Amino acid sequence: MMNVDTLVAGGTIVTADATYCADIGVRDGRICWIGDGGNATNISAGHRIDAAGHLVIPGGVDPHVHLEASSQGQRTADDFRSGTEAAALGGTTTVIDFAYQQPQLSLAESVQTRRALAEGAALTDFGFHLVLNDISESHLEELRDVVADGICTFKIYLAYPRRGLMADDATLFRALDFSRRLGALCLVHAENGVVNDVLVDRAIAAGRTGPNQHELTRPAISETEGTYRSLALARLAGAPVYFVHVSSADSLTEILRARERGQVAVGETCIHYLMIDRTRYELPGFEPAKYVMNPPLRQSSDVSALWHALRLGQLQVVSTDHCPFDFHGQKDVGIDNFSLIPNGVPGIRHRIELLYSEGVARHRLGLNQWVSLVSTGPARLMGLAEKGRINVGADADLVVFDPATQWTITQAGHHMDVDYSAYEGYKVTGRVVHVLRRGELIVRDGMLVPGVAAGRFVPRSDPVAM
Ligand code: URP
Ligand code: ZN
Ligand code: ZN
Repeated sequence: MMNVDTLVAGGTIVTADATYCADIGVRDGRICWIGDGGNATNISAGHRIDAAGHLVIPGGVDPHVHLEASSQGQRTADDFRSGTEAAALGGTTTVIDFAYQQPQLSLAESVQTRRALAEGAALTDFGFHLVLNDISESHLEELRDVVADGICTFKIYLAYPRRGLMADDATLFRALDFSRRLGALCLVHAENGVVNDVLVDRAIAAGRTGPNQHELTRPAISETEGTYRSLALARLAGAPVYFVHVSSADSLTEILRARERGQVAVGETCIHYLMIDRTRYELPGFEPAKYVMNPPLRQSSDVSALWHALRLGQLQVVSTDHCPFDFHGQKDVGIDNFSLIPNGVPGIRHRIELLYSEGVARHRLGLNQWVSLVSTGPARLMGLAEKGRINVGADADLVVFDPATQWTITQAGHHMDVDYSAYEGYKVTGRVVHVLRRGELIVRDGMLVPGVAAGRFVPRSDPVAM
């Protein structure tokens, strides 16, 4: 007789590689046994979760979120608590946020300051990428310490020069080169931030101040240029590179060309680039402000190209880039000047369900591809060895998913602390039912379980680039 804390019984397990019927035993926060239903009679379980008729997948890993983050003088509507509660309700058990290089602090202190905000607050497990905006040769040793502390991904913005976030080419090149030397991975937000700002200034000077101008001043070619430039410097550095929020077919083409040259180049897209397109900028009044994010929404042909790339395995990750600002009271500071609208769109709650509904249920993706894109792929790429898989010894981060239920997204029910939904009224097939985080039930029957302990910081190492 084997004793387990929890038995997840009768479900269909779906991993990145396989689909099969089995029960899962959980002990001390880890998967301790996987076996068929017959053997389960030899198991004594403290708690039993009935997964019959449902899928059981590894907990989602969202490697791109902005919680409790300041931007353009405003703070995101979600803090670590509310954002990770919404994430958990949507089946995500680990998020990776950003720590920003602070001029008055060491790099390690910059991480510690951010980490302190999440400790005791985040419901899911969490980690951070370190954003580097200005590094010199002497930062190599500091970065070595940061990597030893479990931060194995650096982020470079090629946008936002006026917010002090944009790295110049020297910092981009050093970050790539140092990441190779330290066994880390460099993430790039690819755009030409300086040229974008010229376009913004011209629009404002010409009196074109409405929110639809956001898209026009951030053209796809700007993203393509940033992508190509980063690939060229990654090639020079001999470093792998990971592109966050790939939004356009042309950027994707640059990534694929680099791979043909033998480069290791990873592509992440976000759920919004798969769900909605640039026609949102044609909505009346100030409505387009809800979709002011970077890069902006693209043409429907780009949307099709991204889906095709997911199907072919050319993109490896679907994240949210969750960066919520209220429509009333935050986005509307830019009512007379679109460049003041805080950038970002909410999505942390809906990534896994929407990708299932639009991808698997509509036969654009296989079940295993879905799991790879929302969980196993990002876990592996981000160096989360214990997450994103259903193996004996792995963290028992598990989602019981009902593939048949149909429901409708509303702002009122989305649990994100933001006053609009980008997907209001959208009909979804498939819903998260139960969620375990390291063996602890944090969502039961689609509701948060009260009194659950906070999630924990997860040190990461050895990001696997492909
Ligand atoms: O508009 C966006 N995406 N805001 C968040 C910051 C970023 O660029 O990822
Ligand atoms: Zn970005
Ligand atoms: Zn982002």
